[in-house]
Amino acid sequence: MNFKHDIIIVGAGIAGLRAAVECVGKADVAVVSKVFPTRSHSCAAQGGIAASIGNEEEDHWEWHMFDTVKGSDYLADQDAVEIMAKDAPRAIYELEHMGVPFSRNAEGKIAQRNFGGHTRDYGKAPVKRACHASDRTGRVSMDTLYEQCMYHKVKFYSEHYVLSLVIDEGRCAGLVTYDLPKGELNFLAAKAVLLATGGCGRIYKTTSNSFATTGDGFNLAYQAGIPLEDMEFVQFHPTGLYPLGILVSEAARGEGGILRNRLGERFMERYAPTVKDLAPRDIVSRAILTEIREGRGIDGKDYVYLDLTHLGEDRILKKLWEITSFVKIYLGIDPVCEPIPVQPTCHYIMGGIPTDINGRVLMDEKGTVARGLYATGECACVSVHGANRLGCNSLLDLLVFGRRSGLAMMDEIPQHANHPLTFDPLKMPAEKIEGLLKREGTEKIDEIRRSMQSLMMEHCSSFRNEGSLEKGIEDIRSLKERYKNIGIKNKGKFFNYELMEAIELDHQLDISVVILLSALYRKESRGAHFREDFPARDEQDYLKHTLAFQTPEGSEIRYKPVNITRFQPEARRY
Ligand code: FUM
Repeated sequence: MNFKHDIIIVGAGIAGLRAAVECVGKADVAVVSKVFPTRSHSCAAQGGIAASIGNEEEDHWEWHMFDTVKGSDYLADQDAVEIMAKDAPRAIYELEHMGVPFSRNAEGKIAQRNFGGHTRDYGKAPVKRACHASDRTGRVSMDTLYEQCMYHKVKFYSEHYVLSLVIDEGRCAGLVTYDLPKGELNFLAAKAVLLATGGCGRIYKTTSNSFATTGDGFNLAYQAGIPLEDMEFVQFHPTGLYPLGILVSEAARGEGGILRNRLGERFMERYAPTVKDLAPRDIVSRAILTEIREGRGIDGKDYVYLDLTHLGEDRILKKLWEITSFVKIYLGIDPVCEPIPVQPTCHYIMGGIPTDINGRVLMDEKGTVARGLYATGECACVSVHGANRLGCNSLLDLLVFGRRSGLAMMDEIPQHANHPLTFDPLKMPAEKIEGLLKREGTEKIDEIRRSMQSLMMEHCSSFRNEGSLEKGIEDIRSLKERYKNIGIKNKGKFFNYELMEAIELDHQLDISVVILLSALYRKESRGAHFREDFPARDEQDYLKHTLAFQTPEGSEIRYKPVNITRFQPEARRY
């Protein structure tokens, strides 16, 4: 079937929905989602949204900007960070007016709490900057935006899986989806396409990400000739629930929770004497892993304790209700009385599809714009997070740059009509589906996927080195060979998830190689990328963004400069 819209947004998380809300009533906008929209991964965001609204104590956008740049280990583009920090208060009040039920302080104002790396007066002490709705901030924000879309009758293509971007004569002219319930292909023509497809945490064994975060958007762009920026920077959130990896919000430490090793020591005092447990995530994750490596994990195992027992039942239940329920359900532990076992878990990809400050996709180091194609949210790299993202800056990024992408698309579409295509966009996707359904090989998707997740964990998590990264690349490439011999048992049309998982796995394997290669080429340590063989930050050679290109000869790594406006790189002490 063929459909036509002005704007098509792929992904129904907060970034996609915020962009859609900007366009409704002014353009014909549709949202495509491979899951039912309210199951998109933004709903898992717990702790809050950073904004210097100063409801609890003095705060300024300049402090927020400084913290974000320092947290990024000076790799963030400072023009983009300035836009985000300045626009944050507006974004919060806008959400409040749409209906988000933020938690309130004693004065009835939006409550704010501490979060890692957010400080007052350029690093002097932690500041309360995280606006939150208990520990369900993502859930309520996403539901509110979805209600807005429903109210404005945005068209949703639910459970439609994107198979390809349609690029005709150098312009993105739409995309092809596989309608999962019906097992049919559709061509959706558009004047502008926005990718808001989220991250790819599921390439790792231990992750806080939902099953759907398989990096489809990254690879659709990469295979269409768009480079991927800074993919070596993979964030491990310090407190994943052991052994499952489910997120235990940093809000727990923001509310006063303390990390302890097997000796009961508050070990963060040694790693970040000023802000302690509220240091940025890269530092806390490495500290936990160092404690474990040096034999101070609990009972000699791969975890430490997050201790909330001194906070009291009332505060825990009011401010940390969701994580309390997770800990009780999954581990049978009551955080009011017992410490929570935690370990670092893959949480967020700082890199992604390069964009300008209005979501326009950039095709090279010169900043050539890909016509008709936009990206926002975790799949994009604008880059406000550089080498390490601060907690609560993700939801903010989605809101600020989701809106800006919507505005930019609205600006662009009057200049374009939907032209007839010069080729049949359904031909190649149809052949691909047909080819996959015929596969009778002996390799199993699940086995290859599990091997990939273990390999990425072993070779490219918080600590890396040359030998291990090279081995990782070799091993993932041999999984890619094995993938050629997969078998697909389900030959049916309706809800064929085995077929979708086969395509997802192909994307995951390609993205894994991009991450490993980008990490191999960056011979320094910066933010979340820690090379044991190059433990220092190297401003001379590596204060630059990585760009990985797919070429006919294989992957190629190039670089582009970082945009530094206000804050020159300094040693990063907390
Ligand atoms: O810890 C958290 O609640 C996560 C927040 C974030 O990733 O921004």
